[in-house]
Amino acid sequence: NRTKHIRNFSIIAHIDHGKSTLADRILEITGAVSEREKRDQYLDKMELERERGITIKSQTVRLPYTAANGETYELNLIDTPGHVDFSYEVSRSLAACEGALLVVDATQGVEAQTLANVFMALDHDLEIIPVLNKIDLPSSHTEEVAQEIEEIIGLDCTDALQVSAKTGLNVEKVLEAIVQQVPAPSGDPDAPLKALIFDSWYDSYRGVVVLFRILEGTIRKGDKIKINSTGREFDVTSLGAFTPEPVQYKEFGPGEVGFLCANMKELSDAPVGDTVTLAKNPTQDPFPGFQEVKPMVFCGLYPVEPAEYEPLKTALEKLQLNDAAFHFEPETSQALGFGFRAGFLGLLHMEIIQERLEREFNAKLIATAPSVAYQVTNTDGVVSIIDNPSKLPEIQEIASLAEPYVRMEIHVPNDYVGAVLKLCEEKRGIQQDMKYLTSTRVMITYELPFAEIVFDFFDKLKSVTRGYASMDYEVIDFRESDLVKLDMLINGDVIDALAVIVHRERATRYGRAVALKLKRSIPRQLYEVVVQAAIGSRIIARERNAPLRKNVTAKCYGGDISRKRKLLEKQKAGKKRMKKMGSVEIPQEAFLAALKAE
Ligand code: GTP
Repeated sequence: NRTKHIRNFSIIAHIDHGKSTLADRILEITGAVSEREKRDQYLDKMELERERGITIKSQTVRLPYTAANGETYELNLIDTPGHVDFSYEVSRSLAACEGALLVVDATQGVEAQTLANVFMALDHDLEIIPVLNKIDLPSSHTEEVAQEIEEIIGLDCTDALQVSAKTGLNVEKVLEAIVQQVPAPSGDPDAPLKALIFDSWYDSYRGVVVLFRILEGTIRKGDKIKINSTGREFDVTSLGAFTPEPVQYKEFGPGEVGFLCANMKELSDAPVGDTVTLAKNPTQDPFPGFQEVKPMVFCGLYPVEPAEYEPLKTALEKLQLNDAAFHFEPETSQALGFGFRAGFLGLLHMEIIQERLEREFNAKLIATAPSVAYQVTNTDGVVSIIDNPSKLPEIQEIASLAEPYVRMEIHVPNDYVGAVLKLCEEKRGIQQDMKYLTSTRVMITYELPFAEIVFDFFDKLKSVTRGYASMDYEVIDFRESDLVKLDMLINGDVIDALAVIVHRERATRYGRAVALKLKRSIPRQLYEVVVQAAIGSRIIARERNAPLRKNVTAKCYGGDISRKRKLLEKQKAGKKRMKKMGSVEIPQEAFLAALKAE
């Protein structure tokens, strides 16, 4: 009975609490990484992840471990993405496990993200092993944090492991705890195959690589598999596990975790959360709760030069191959020309994609201010979803407008409660709950319009709480609101790419702020530039830049030609980020001005 020695587990933690560092130590102890191969954070594969110190794409490894009892176990460490934007992927990864390590930074305590993930793990009936990390730091307070975990989550922390992932102290004990406490999987190897896809990505050599966890049945190389949601069939050409190097295996049985390739060309051939079964004897009982991931935040992406349109398109296609949650379609803007409307899971996801486009694909982009999707009911009763403010029908054709709301949980030291409540009220929030988690830590629950968060909520939350708040949110529903479309005009022309949808009560203040920001971010020209904000035909704000003769080299003294050249070059580089609209050059910053307008 092979399953007896299998242990499938994840590590859940708030960002920066040490998940990747602990994973590295575990890889080292089990000998999965040779000294030569050892890199700082093996599991964070992509360069970008490394730089930002976050995990975007999950990586799963099979680790042989000989425990104190002399028996050798197959540990499958299933890595999960660590950010709110990717919570569906987290939930699928957890569904592939029997247990989870709950890593809590002993200098910090329980944070919102920790809690969200723990509750998800509890929903999946996982065995949770609390691990207090960073005990090498003098500022760690393990007793209070252990008590916090008991009070807030209700986990017994009497024997909570106290480790330093950094120095490796007590990490071996973590492995013993996994062997002893995480239940072995079970399942009938002769039942029809039922395997969960908990991750998939595109590899230019292998096509789509699918990570799966078998609940019951057996899969072999050469099998014809069927993907439940699409009914499509594929032949398994490659079957194996990452150790972390890929190693081929002939078959996998119940409880096992592995990867397969089957000549799949697109991620939609193997969506996360779907069920893999055999074509000739399919399971009658696929995994419940399969969801297609839907983008929640949208923005326009435009090449700076028209000639860069095709390369940008190719870059977007390449990115999409590897990111099922990223959507795009062609879009034309009067102001910006030919470009794309792109959809993302959330703001972080959007930032990551924009950065990757610029870095990996060398794409020079103009990105418009992000917006959420709105639900429009026309006067003739037709309901549609609009992901671009400039596509909103004329006012007289709209019966009602609804916007998405989120439920947000914020954890904060009690000193900052006032500041957080004030911020949430300013953002049109509706308070749902507030409770003391401990004598000094408070959990505040609000329902907020998603659009208010998309603007600058996180920055504001960080600044009013000096970085001490943590938060988590989920989109709950669409609600009718008194929303209006605000147009920005430059020298009388409506700049469609700058249109936003705002709450009517805010429109005037907002329009003034954006007009002012625009005035300041548009370089002065040889002629007058007038910026206006308007709701329909009603002008609600006006700003003006007086004409100016521009001569950037005037400030250079004497014959210092190299300095002069540098300055001109700098100016040229700056220009790359500008778009000509009518006669006015508009820099990238202008599009972000709306974001920071309050
Ligand atoms: P994400 O990948 O963003 O989710 O973060 P993470 O939870 O994986 O955290 P990571 O392992 O990257 O650690 C965050 C920081 O804490 C890094 O600078 C680590 O070096 C540090 N760190 C992790 N474990 C320890 C520890 O036991 N002691 C000390 N002193 N520092 C630690």
